[in-house]
Amino acid sequence: MKFFQHPGRYALGLVLSLLLAACSGGSGSTSPTAQTTGALLEGIAAAGAPLTGTVYITDSSYPTRKTSAPINQDGTFFVAVDGLTPPLLVKAVGTASGSAVTLYSFATSPGSVQVNPLTDLLVAGASGTQNRADLFSLYSSHNRASLQIIANQLPRLTADLQKALQPLLALYGADTLNPFTAAYQVNHQGLDGLFDDAAINIANGSVTIINRSSGAVVFSAVLENLASGTLNSAGLPTPVTYTKPGNARLTLQLTGLPSGIPVKRLKTTIRLPLGVTVDQGTAAVNTAIPSGSASGATVYPLPSLSTTNNELTLELSSLNGFVDGEFLTLRCIVSYANLSTVTADAFKIVKTELYDDIYKQQKISTGTVLTSMLVFPDMEGKKVYEGRCGGCHTLSSNDTVGRPSLLNKAALVRDKFASGHRGIYLTTQQIEDLQAFLSGYSK
Ligand code: HEC
Repeated sequence: MKFFQHPGRYALGLVLSLLLAACSGGSGSTSPTAQTTGALLEGIAAAGAPLTGTVYITDSSYPTRKTSAPINQDGTFFVAVDGLTPPLLVKAVGTASGSAVTLYSFATSPGSVQVNPLTDLLVAGASGTQNRADLFSLYSSHNRASLQIIANQLPRLTADLQKALQPLLALYGADTLNPFTAAYQVNHQGLDGLFDDAAINIANGSVTIINRSSGAVVFSAVLENLASGTLNSAGLPTPVTYTKPGNARLTLQLTGLPSGIPVKRLKTTIRLPLGVTVDQGTAAVNTAIPSGSASGATVYPLPSLSTTNNELTLELSSLNGFVDGEFLTLRCIVSYANLSTVTADAFKIVKTELYDDIYKQQKISTGTVLTSMLVFPDMEGKKVYEGRCGGCHTLSSNDTVGRPSLLNKAALVRDKFASGHRGIYLTTQQIEDLQAFLSGYSK
């Protein structure tokens, strides 16, 4: 859906900027850098919850140019920035979880940029801001030099902030992320989880980060000198832990292979829909699990996700080979905003290579990969619970004698079923699904 909306909006932006360019006379531009053509700025605006409203962009031209675009329900935005001269100052105005929010961000070139409380803090710090009103004035009145100062300051300030907030960021796996450029998911994990748990306030030239649940001050610093802020480790929030490594599972199938020729090596590239990513961090997290006749195959190297186009490339090799039918399950992270809309069809197979030897010498000419099913572990887990546990257990907040509640007991399930429980045996998958259901249930 979003991909359909996007060219239209883009074309409109293009027309508008051509008109603007025509009106401004065109000739005699003294801008030191080339204007961008066909360029797009896209990203996600979020403050824990997705921010819905409008994104405004202003540039380094003289006189300055401005453009804007609506922000979608899920926080995503696409803005045509043709004719705008980077660096660009970005402002998102709207509501997140029912509260009015304005957040700033900054882009040194078109492409992707995120807008969130950390980008906001960094722009404030880099621009010598004292209060939110100063940011407002900066947006309405600036010149190339003032944006260039921000561009120059940001790398150092970002590094300072990462260092000063390391213990807090690390809790959310975000200690090495650049908040302007790192892929962002509205899924209560990573940076998004941090913004759920901590409020970042800017006033009187200082920043204060507050633990939302306890009210404790986690960090305070003078905006101009984030590096020497004070971190209160006793006040750090406790992140919610989610069942790794994903909240959705996609099944991939092979079809149309020549009969009698098993695939021994497969390389495929899948474009994930917007708002969907995979956790590809470490070998410990199994993103891609060979299944069906490919069970036991090797996924190597680690699947890699391109942050520019959200394409995932994965390679599979199998000594015995595998045939038509299911061969892989892919564990994905779908942003909360997309959970109800994303389907298996939204995943596009971009390219597939099939070989009948693991050294990639004998190509198989026919055969395609299909995305066949997208399921959500927590919903699968609910079915397992209702079908197999609900008769003897509850999900209430207190245990009843002889009828224990399973609320908040996700962690006990694996051991309980190591060798069956009450005559019930569960597969690893069912255990994971149950854990996903039980750990999400109390939220
Ligand atoms: C026939 C009844 C019955 C069924 C069905 C059953 N359980 Fe139990 N379960 C019990 C009883 C009774 C206990 C408490 C005694 C014990 O620990 O074995 C228990 C204990 C547990 C515990 C430990 C709870 C604690 O507080 O220590 C877990 C975890 C658990 N069950 C999970 C499950 C899951 C998951 C399912 C479904 C897949 C399930 N059980 C199905 C009867 C059942």
